[in-house]
This record gives sequence, C-alpha cells and structure tokens, in this order.
Amino acid sequence: MEIFKTPGARAAFALAITALIAVLLILILDDAAYDWIKAIHIMAIISWMAGMLYLPRLFVYHCDAAPGSELSETLKVMEQRLLRIILNPAMILAWILGLWLAWNANWFSAGWFHAKLAFALALSGVHGHYSASARRFANDQNTRSSRYWRMMNEVPALLMVVIVILVVVKPF
Ligand code: HEM
Repeated sequence: MEIFKTPGARAAFALAITALIAVLLILILDDAAYDWIKAIHIMAIISWMAGMLYLPRLFVYHCDAAPGSELSETLKVMEQRLLRIILNPAMILAWILGLWLAWNANWFSAGWFHAKLAFALALSGVHGHYSASARRFANDQNTRSSRYWRMMNEVPALLMVVIVILVVVKPF
C-alpha cells in the first residue's frame, strides 16, 4: 500500500500494532498483564539501546567521510533510517510501557524509581542530541570530531549500567 512506502510510516505502523498488543494484554490478562508489559518494555529497551550504541559509531565513520562522497550519502540514509525505524519508536514505547508499569505497581513513591527516572531522562536527552546531530550530518554541517563521537559512544552504555542496577537491585 502507498502509505507503507516510507520507513517513517512503517515504523509508526509497527509502533501502533505493538501499542495495540499491549492494550489487549492489559485488558485480557488483567493481573498477569504486569509481567507481559514488563517483557515488552525490556524488548523496547534492548532496541533503543542497540540504536543508541550504533548511531555514534556511524557518526565516527561519517566524520572521516568527505562531504558529498558516496560513503557520506550512504551514512546519511543509514542514520536517518536508524532513527526513524528503531530509535524513535523504541524510545516512545519504552516510556509509555515504563510509565504504565510505574503507575500500575505504584512505584512513583520509591526512591530508586526517582533516580531511574532522572537517568532515563538523561538518556532521552542524549537521544535528542543524537537526533539533532544526525540532522546536522544530513546537511553536511557537523562540527564535532570523531574523537568526540567515540567518547559519546560510552555515555548511553554508562547510563544503562546505572539504570539496570537501580531497577533490578533497587538499592534505596
Ligand atoms: C523511559 C523511562 C522508563 C520508565 C518510566 C521505566 C519504568 C520501569 C518500571 C516501573 C519497571 C518495573 C520495575 C519492577 O517491576 O520491579 C521497569 C522495569 C525494567 N526496566 Fe525500565 N523504565 C524506563 C526506562 C528504562 C531503561 C532506559 C532501561 C535500561 C537501559 C530500563 C530497564 C528496565 C529493566 C531491565 C526492567 C526489568 C527489571 C526487573 O524486572 O527486575 N528501563 N522499568
């Protein structure tokens, strides 16, 4: 169909189907829904993290590609697709399902959850920075070095370590 021709439309469709499945699970499973939604939340997080670790690697290669070269144009397409098909839908799903879990189990008063929320917001901020940088690369306006992107590659990994410890160990 015409509407599924762009990667953005396909990603939006996949996101809507996953959200529909999540709503059906909540309605049908009732008490057991929590664990199923948590499973989908973790799948969304794995997809989000995969993209958050891969995109800065593409930026590193992009820094070394001459503007207008075939490599530079290919990297632009890869970066935009990664953002539209994986990163953006996965982040939206992780947030919606994570907030539902917190609301359902009343985690909003827990200390670990406040800290997790702060680090999840920081991760979303890094996502925003990546997204804006991909736009700059698309216009051949990147000013940052490959060394900067190599360092930025570590930030989501560090945030992920802290977040997983907070949510699994719940130290406070
Ligand atoms: C985007 C905002 C997020 C919100 C609102 C959120 C919220 C939640 C909540 C309330 C739970 C259930 C905790 C429990 O039942 O013990 C959960 C589970 C989990 N979250 Fe998130 N989360 C978010 C992002 C993330 C991120 C960025 C990561 C990892 C990088 C992550 C990893 C996990 C894991 C591994 C679990 C399963 C923990 C377990 O069952 O022991 N979440 N999340």
